[in-house]
Amino acid sequence: MRASIYWLLSTLTLGCKDHHPIKDSSEPWPVDESTGLRVATLPPLVKLEQWGDNESTESKLALGYAIFNDFRLSGSQLVSCSTCHLPTQGFTSGSSTDTSDRAYPHLTPVLARNTPSLLNQVYARAFHWDGRPADIYEVWVLPFGEPQMNLTDLPQDDIWTTDDPTAQIRLQQRFTEDVPGYVDWFDRAYDVDIRESTPEEVWDLTGKAISVYMRKAVSVNSPFDRWNQGEKDAMEEDAIRGMETFLGDGGCVNCHSGSLFSDFQYHNLSLTKYDDEGEPIDLGRAKVTEDEADLGKYLTPMLRTVTMTSPYFHDGSVLNLRDAIRHHGSSEARMDPNYDPLLDVVPEFTDNEIDDLIAFLSAIRGEPMDRQYLSVTPELP
Ligand code: HEC
Ligand code: HEC
Repeated sequence: MRASIYWLLSTLTLGCKDHHPIKDSSEPWPVDESTGLRVATLPPLVKLEQWGDNESTESKLALGYAIFNDFRLSGSQLVSCSTCHLPTQGFTSGSSTDTSDRAYPHLTPVLARNTPSLLNQVYARAFHWDGRPADIYEVWVLPFGEPQMNLTDLPQDDIWTTDDPTAQIRLQQRFTEDVPGYVDWFDRAYDVDIRESTPEEVWDLTGKAISVYMRKAVSVNSPFDRWNQGEKDAMEEDAIRGMETFLGDGGCVNCHSGSLFSDFQYHNLSLTKYDDEGEPIDLGRAKVTEDEADLGKYLTPMLRTVTMTSPYFHDGSVLNLRDAIRHHGSSEARMDPNYDPLLDVVPEFTDNEIDDLIAFLSAIRGEPMDRQYLSVTPELP
């Protein structure tokens, strides 16, 4: 329904300008003159602005790239960010239940949540399935305080608690004592002697350095973006039909909106699981807000690279895209008394409709990122 409203609006706007008659009135998705887009609600990603407080330089990039791949920095010294965020797999691991570094070498317990893709994460406005990290720099260094990189003293079976102060002290020791080559690298990148800095300062700089590397992990200029900007044949028929469902009767755009296909809000899709005592295993957004109303709510995932980031959902409980889409319109998605009412418009799809939606999701995937930064063995200090 929404699709036809867009159609009507765009046609009306164009139709009013009689000095510029519509050439092909049968074209259902004309380019709107004021926006230059066919679908203004899903604009392309624009070039990322430089961050004023952390401008990209070659030495910052080299430092961030090294830290991301340096297994000598983790608690066990066996794991790096790229162990779970594999660059060649859209910076996911392809596994629903990654092993926490804290558990090596016993390989248990597993992590609490599914590893998200990091592609285009530098554009995001909220992070993690529950929105815990405060900003775009913090998100890259937090894993050192979590079971992921395990620089804390927390017991091995505690996969939820985090201890940033201990992790900050340990991280500085890694850079200054265990792998002291980093002292020079930080000096070159940020003109600072990290032996003189506080653990918190080193922590902040680590987040900044990794973020500079992650500016390379972007995937833009998808077939949909090109079609949206007027290139007529950039998207196939089935993808266009899928887009119409996405914008219209499917109701997807109510949550997966904007240039990243996320509203950066939290929604309940009835995916909460309970333990034997009937307690929720994962609190979702409520873990951050401590508000019971947020129990079972998770951040809307961005969708631009979703065709390459199976498994799906915060718990990795669904292996293929078809089932992930189908869940939204199923009665299971409405089982939780607090399920999101926006789901009420999502229908049970036919197989053909799902095929079209998947064709659309494939068409929003951008060009591959620069191959130069896909290696997991960059130069290390
Ligand atoms: C052992 C596996 C593992 C390792 C190692 C790991 N991560 Fe993650 N990462 C995860 C999981 C699981 C999540 C989801 C956590 C959550 O939402 O609570 C995550 C979330 C993230 C996010 C948020 C993504 C989003 O969609 O909001 C970023 C950014 C991130 N990790 C970066 C890193 C960096 C940088 C490192 C290295 C310092 C790292 N990760 C190491 C598993 C891992
Ligand atoms: C009520 C808001 C809402 C609507 C409407 C919605 N989604 Fe979602 N979607 C979410 C949230 C939230 C998640 C993550 C849920 C979780 O992991 O607990 C999600 C997850 C997904 C995933 C899995 C992504 C991943 O990385 O795990 C896909 C694919 C997806 N949605 C596609 C769609 C499509 C296609 C539609 C329309 C048919 C749609 N969504 C409608 C909120 C919504």
